[in-house]
Amino acid sequence: MNAYVAGRHFLQTPGPTNLPDRVLRAMDNNAINHRGPEFGRLALTVIGKLRKIFGTAGIVAIYPASGTGAWEAAMVNTLVPGDRVLMARTGQFAQLWEDLAKRFGLAVEAHDTDWRRGADTNEIYGALVADKAHTIKAVCVVHSETSTSCMTDIAAVRAAMDRAKHPALLMVDAISSLACTDYRHDAWGVDVTVAGSQKGLMVPPGLSFTAMSAKAIAASEANKTPRSYWDWAPYIASNKTGFFPYTPAMNLYYALNAALDMLLEEGLPNVYARHDRYAEATRRAARAWGLELQCEDPSAYAPGVTAIRVPDGHSADGLRNAILEKFNMALGNGLGRINDKVFRIGHMGDLGVLQLAGVLAGVEMGLRVAGIPHKAGGAQAAMDFLAGNA
Ligand SMILES: Cc1ncc(COP(=O)(O)O)c(C=O)c1O
Repeated sequence: MNAYVAGRHFLQTPGPTNLPDRVLRAMDNNAINHRGPEFGRLALTVIGKLRKIFGTAGIVAIYPASGTGAWEAAMVNTLVPGDRVLMARTGQFAQLWEDLAKRFGLAVEAHDTDWRRGADTNEIYGALVADKAHTIKAVCVVHSETSTSCMTDIAAVRAAMDRAKHPALLMVDAISSLACTDYRHDAWGVDVTVAGSQKGLMVPPGLSFTAMSAKAIAASEANKTPRSYWDWAPYIASNKTGFFPYTPAMNLYYALNAALDMLLEEGLPNVYARHDRYAEATRRAARAWGLELQCEDPSAYAPGVTAIRVPDGHSADGLRNAILEKFNMALGNGLGRINDKVFRIGHMGDLGVLQLAGVLAGVEMGLRVAGIPHKAGGAQAAMDFLAGNA
């Protein structure tokens, strides 16, 4: 067994994120009858609050699953094997969603990027215009690509689809953007939005969320492809009264209810501004260190995570390991084709300004310990910014 390490572990992965004490305490409750009136009331309350975060007046389904489950639910409810699907391959999570779609027999038309920006809306427009027979049934994009820290502009994707007068469904992975930045399922005309509990929502892993439009529900009703656990129909029927076609993960609902209260008490515009401020501070630190940001497009910077490249010939994993060992802080690793080339600082969820200052100090000390060429002063640059914007 390892010796005791004094002080709090710094969990700075871009999900799971730190669990606030209030959320932990809320979970510490006995189970209740999930078919009784008390749980029904709790579920309806939680879903009402969730709607505000998703920006929808419609259904938000909750399944005991990670985000990957919601990816699968989106596909199996609305699409039929053989359907053409346009997917923007903006990073590793987009790639994994694509792999899942292919396993279900969908004909994926992937639009690759260099993983340093969001999806190319002009390319999406061109592909939709070229599809005169409307054989493309869905356009799938990841809002915040957690592997690259690049955002895709969802309103711009919707505008491209409208301009092309194309009826495909718009499906969005908001797993690492929800509760970190403004999200508008209804106003942006999104048909399916998928999310998870363990990132901006400050809840342990284990709940997946799916917001769905009337058009997505109609597609699922018309879809005869066999499915069971993920079938939206029994969910929609039983959830009108706050009940579920399975045993809900009720202690996570207690947690979610507390977390949603915290977000709404802080005020969503303040929550989003805080994330933007922390992201800017982190980027200033990276620039002062002389390190390159993985995201090359300033209009696409993610609010909840920053992926930073290490110089060629150096190991981002070596740096992360040194930081974990010496300073008790966990950072996100580089995924897929940028494995070992980037490290990711998660700054989403429950994070105070002094915690962020500590995070950046830890990275700066780690750069020194791991022998990564850099200039001193990144943490100071972040502090200068944060002090001026406190
Ligand atoms: C953008 C994005 N999509 C999907 C996933 C997969 O979600 P999960 O790990 O909850 O299944 C993640 C996980 O980090 C993610 O960041």
